[in-house]
Amino acid sequence: MEVIILPSEKDCAKLGGQLIFDLVKENPACVLGLATGSTPVSLYKELIRLHKENDLSFSNVTSFNLDEYIGLSGDHPCSYRYFMQEQLFDSVDINLKSTHVPNGLANNIEAECDSYEQSILEVGGIDLQILGIGSDGHIGFNEPCSSLSSRTRMKTLTGETIKDNARFFESENEVPRHCITMGVGTILDTKSVLLFAFGEGKSDVISKAIEGPISSMVPASALQLHPNVKVILDEPAASKLVNIDYYKEVYANRPSS
Ligand code: PGA
Repeated sequence: MEVIILPSEKDCAKLGGQLIFDLVKENPACVLGLATGSTPVSLYKELIRLHKENDLSFSNVTSFNLDEYIGLSGDHPCSYRYFMQEQLFDSVDINLKSTHVPNGLANNIEAECDSYEQSILEVGGIDLQILGIGSDGHIGFNEPCSSLSSRTRMKTLTGETIKDNARFFESENEVPRHCITMGVGTILDTKSVLLFAFGEGKSDVISKAIEGPISSMVPASALQLHPNVKVILDEPAASKLVNIDYYKEVYANRPSS
């Protein structure tokens, strides 16, 4: 794991944008794994800026989102398909047919999950996965105790996640209880990962995920097994890490590429 600590969320988004810019320039037909929630919003703004000002084209990019609520249609303002349209897809030149978000209204959820996994395999896997982290340690909607080899499937949200996400809904009661999410195993199969976390509120879970033991109680800790992860943090999110000085030194003295 490479832990990169920068002064602000804006700096983190800029770095993330640059890394994605470099990947798309090198491989215009790359496959991106996308995330929702508050965390990636600043990154998506940066990607839109790079698209408008620096000629970054998504026209040949394929994308797969991590998860979707069961029971919400793509045009429901709280669905993750809607979020992606609003925050990124409508402002760049990505071909909507190449964007994938699990179908939360599928009649046969198991078949939807299997076909989602199959679609990822058919394009050769995900080149770069963007992740946030839940305050309970989830990645995607892989809640504590998720199998670390799980694949795309239905999950039940924890009370903590329902509370965290209630801010997007009119009330806590409206938050769907179930979702479809890529599994921890699906995420571990991606070729590279950028995990972002901002704010003091994420500092406890970040220290558990990065410096704690690998445990299904903190699904993000499974990323310690992934060979190519960059964790990009602002100062407050990094504030409880034991090795903070070391991570800063490594980054400050990184070899020039
Ligand atoms: P947040 O959620 O970005 O809204 O904090 C992160 C997550 O639940 O993965």
